Amino acid sequence: SSTLFDAQPSSSYVVRRGFSSESAPERKVAILGAAGGIGQPLALLMKLNPLVSKLALYDIAGTPGVAADVSHINTRSEVSGYAGEEQIGQALEGADIVIIPAGVPRKPGMTRDDLFNINAGIVKSLCTAISKYCPHALVNMISNPVNSTVPIASEVFKKAGTYDEKKLFGVTTLDVVRAKTFYAGKAKVNVADVNVPVVGGHAGITILPLFSQATPKANLPDDEIKALTKRTQDGGTEVVEAKAGKGSATLSMAYAGAIFADACLKGLNGVPDVVECSFVQSSVTELPFFASKVKLGKNGVEEVLGLGPLSDFEKEGLEALKPELKSSIEKGIKFANQS
Ligand code: NAI
Repeated sequence: SSTLFDAQPSSSYVVRRGFSSESAPERKVAILGAAGGIGQPLALLMKLNPLVSKLALYDIAGTPGVAADVSHINTRSEVSGYAGEEQIGQALEGADIVIIPAGVPRKPGMTRDDLFNINAGIVKSLCTAISKYCPHALVNMISNPVNSTVPIASEVFKKAGTYDEKKLFGVTTLDVVRAKTFYAGKAKVNVADVNVPVVGGHAGITILPLFSQATPKANLPDDEIKALTKRTQDGGTEVVEAKAGKGSATLSMAYAGAIFADACLKGLNGVPDVVECSFVQSSVTELPFFASKVKLGKNGVEEVLGLGPLSDFEKEGLEALKPELKSSIEKGIKFANQS
């Protein structure tokens, strides 16, 4: 697990900027929904990543402005903007990674599942285009409800004959980012040193942070672990309420999306031992998709890692989340196959 501007010089952007471009292979990253609340800061952060050589920004509108703006930053990648469906082919062609933050965000009082009706259709059409124009790209799904949009993507790819379970990722990194921040605050440890796996899914109680495995160890009392768990599960809602109708997490999500895409790029480039949590096709539980630690490699998922030892509280949380996660997965699969 990594941070973008790491205290460790060996992995920092500042140092990596000196990375000769011959040693970092050409990599194209496409962002779909690039003019949105997440898309714009995510475009900025990907423009800062020296592992990217081409950055394609796609949205239904507004991308020429975002692309012109971001393109003036004096970093490696060449930036281009694409607007409207007739340009999606160009945006996707040759992409190594496609990041999808397209779709509507929550307003106060909404659950992620309330977004299903609009976002399911958007994801379906974008994945149809991916299967046509860049069937071998890694897909980083941010659009909610992730618990359903990832299964939708898998079904679209299966129908197109392009599905590779090693290349489809639900981005749950923001749950990890939140768990780390909240834990560091309670445990009074340096946040940059903290690691916390978050497993399950990406909505409410399906988000299961494993604080029993958090490092550095802090031996927090049960009531504090419970409160930290709840705050991590409700982190998105905390932001939705604070924004009071103006959307959900965008800046912290862009950061999390940039961390996850960076991990995917490192894996593609053969960096060893790159591990991040992600919602992927899985046999860790009886559910077909599940978030857990995943080792990333040259073909995407190299290994889906197991859960490790769980506390009794976490075991209960795991059993409690399964019915909701199962039904969200089934809802996605059903949608993809009926329409
Ligand atoms: P936003 O409304 O600010 O931006 C969404 C963008 O998607 C807009 O620019 C819109 O034009 C674009 N879009 C809509 N249909 C499109 C299509 N067919 N093709 C390309 N672009 C299209 O929303 P925001 O805040 O950026 O959130 C985007 C999504 O990310 C939402 O579904 C939200 O729930 C989700 N999200 C996921 C998180 C996660 O942890 N995985 C965290 C926060 C948000």
